[in-house]
Amino acid sequence: MSISNLVRDQIKRGSWIRKMFEEGLRLKQEHGPENVFDFTLGNPCIPPPDDFHRALEKVVREERPGVHAYMQNSGFPATRSRVARDLAVETALPFSADHVVMTVGAAGALNVALKSVLDPGDEVVLIAPYFAEYAFYVSNHGGTKVVSRARPDFLPDLDDLDARIGPRTKALILNSPCNPSGRLIPAGVLARLGDLLRRKSRRHGRTIYLLSDEPYRRLLFDGLEFASPFAHYEDTLMAMSHSKDLSLAGERIGYLAISPRCAAAADLFSAATFTNRTLGYVNAPALMQRMIAVIDRIRPDVAVYERKRDILFRGLTAIGYDVVKPDGTFFMFPKCPVPDDLEFVRTLASRLVLVTPGSGFEYPGCFRIAFCVPDDVIERSLPRFEEAFKAARGA
Ligand SMILES: Cc1ncc(COP(=O)(O)O)c(C=O)c1O
Repeated sequence: MSISNLVRDQIKRGSWIRKMFEEGLRLKQEHGPENVFDFTLGNPCIPPPDDFHRALEKVVREERPGVHAYMQNSGFPATRSRVARDLAVETALPFSADHVVMTVGAAGALNVALKSVLDPGDEVVLIAPYFAEYAFYVSNHGGTKVVSRARPDFLPDLDDLDARIGPRTKALILNSPCNPSGRLIPAGVLARLGDLLRRKSRRHGRTIYLLSDEPYRRLLFDGLEFASPFAHYEDTLMAMSHSKDLSLAGERIGYLAISPRCAAAADLFSAATFTNRTLGYVNAPALMQRMIAVIDRIRPDVAVYERKRDILFRGLTAIGYDVVKPDGTFFMFPKCPVPDDLEFVRTLASRLVLVTPGSGFEYPGCFRIAFCVPDDVIERSLPRFEEAFKAARGA
């Protein structure tokens, strides 16, 4: 075989989510799709809003020279200005077009950011449970991951972070609200995290970047408001996309925003523009960039996901599962009734319920349910969750 050893190894260790998805396809063929409860993929289940379709028809008809051509690698100036204006209103910070690079989704923004700041051997702190792709993104750019385990309520453990941030730390990736736990990090915790990063940066004589991954920031329940890391730490870079809030994952539109308070903001903008090009993205999709002025104003119907969360949370806690109630996203991360999450995921799969083991998020002992599925799938799955719970407990 001629593929790289590193990639071969990554594929082998890689995606639990994909593995479970493929298992789902097999089970659906065997038992019929309506009899398999597939909670593995974080693919939004509500269609993009009608406003999106109307705007798309309009934008498609606007023909001006250059609308389909190469552009500045950072993206259309009008789009970047528009995003900057919204960010300035939201954060009361002086964002301009030169703090925004349009990217191929949040994944593109994270890769551009990491490529821009990492030297070989630099460490990037991840807070487990974390979106598994982060580990690959860090490795893509010569970094080394350092994992800090979150507290049992899935908020960052600041004492543990204090111990893990050292002289080689270059960045910390934060994801709020979080895939897989659904937890929103409150402003008070962000303020203390900002203090910690400032103190560590000073002590080690190098800037530690806070890379805030926020594709779920508009999927919040219970009237909660998003707390932005921009307010609490000057060296913050933010990755955003409309994959999740507007169900546009296939359209690959997102951006990297650099805090205007960042001492190296201008250098970072140049670096991100350059790495967007040299990573081979060249620029974010032109059509979706032209849509941003409209897209950015549309808000998702979070009540749909909130209702699903409530059905699932009520059902699982009534059975006896230990669950931290998600503040947002469409994920829930209950504790397994037995210590071995792989074993429990198999117990669920034998009852045709497919979930992702916490080990896939470097947090064994829990499992992830992606509840972006029809309500009736959640309701019909609950007796299976109950059977598996009793079987695991030997009841
Ligand atoms: C936490 C997190 N970050 C980033 C991404 C990538 O999103 P995008 O489609 O915007 O690249 C995902 C997708 O599942 C995610 O869950």
